[in-house]
Amino acid sequence: METTQTAPKKTLYSAIQPTGSITLGNYIGALRNFVLLADDFDCLFCMADLHALTVRQDPAALRRNTASLAALYMACGLDPEKSIIYCQSHVPEHAELAWILNCFTYMGELSRMTQFKDKSAKHADNINAGLFAYPSLMAADILLYQTNLVPVGADQKQHLELTRDIATRVNSLYPNLFTVPEAYIPKTSARIRSLSDPTRKMSKSDAEDSYIALLDAPDVIRRKFRRAVTDSETEIRYDPENKPGVSNLLSILAAMENVTPEEEEAKLKGCNYGALKEAASEAVISTLAPIQERYQALMGDKEHIANTLKSGAERAHYLAQKTLRKVYKKVGLYQL
Ligand code: TRP
Repeated sequence: METTQTAPKKTLYSAIQPTGSITLGNYIGALRNFVLLADDFDCLFCMADLHALTVRQDPAALRRNTASLAALYMACGLDPEKSIIYCQSHVPEHAELAWILNCFTYMGELSRMTQFKDKSAKHADNINAGLFAYPSLMAADILLYQTNLVPVGADQKQHLELTRDIATRVNSLYPNLFTVPEAYIPKTSARIRSLSDPTRKMSKSDAEDSYIALLDAPDVIRRKFRRAVTDSETEIRYDPENKPGVSNLLSILAAMENVTPEEEEAKLKGCNYGALKEAASEAVISTLAPIQERYQALMGDKEHIANTLKSGAERAHYLAQKTLRKVYKKVGLYQL
């Protein structure tokens, strides 16, 4: 009899902190690709609310943002039946494994993390131990699920490297305990930049005019694009080095229309910057419209969100406790 053997899918893990607004940059660089990845991998999409606590949060806003991020994940097309969509604090194994990993992570390593240095400078009145140990919690997130792949942007690369170091260190004492994860670099990765300073990445922690939020209304989107920084020339040319502003607008437009920035350049030859901005805003508005519509519908049904997160947490917990139990046993904790 013929048997068809399908290789087990690799596990892919990603998390976003439920703080601030999700930007068009997050959508183009991450969320949009996740929908495609969900077919090829066993995916977990987490809302990292414990990480969010490393800087002061307004409790009501954090709660609201968590539900909102769950709705946004789904509005962007992630299917909670296919992938595990869940909230970090609903699965206690994250904090538990983080403690163990803290005991395998050196002060020197943590103090070399550039994000720690940046955030300590930014929140000088609250340099707490959680901020310092942030990377070992992130390592716990990833290692709990024996993750193979983690899509990371440049800002999280160092944390993933540390995760690999921790996993390798633990494995050298207790062989094969953890899968050592790798960075997943998407094939096409448009890097979307700030509208007000196109030499920097588009970031939700910068001024509001510098990014498009996924939930921005059409008139807000138009206004932000009108104010976007370009240059003192008049020629629409894709040249990220010398014309970062214009090139960023071409990249955004291209990402919306699934073509290359060079193709957009050719289409807009002879037009002025106003026309480019107008084309970019209209393309973004029409891409976001259905997402915003689905988002509003989902947010109108809080019970559905809660139920989705509940079943996500159960599925995540099942996998997480398998790993944690093994870890507890290996390191010598007395098992009942
Ligand atoms: N630190 C990530 C960020 O701020 C969020 C995060 C938490 C994460 N845990 C993770 C990302 C695990 C990837 C894997 O962007």
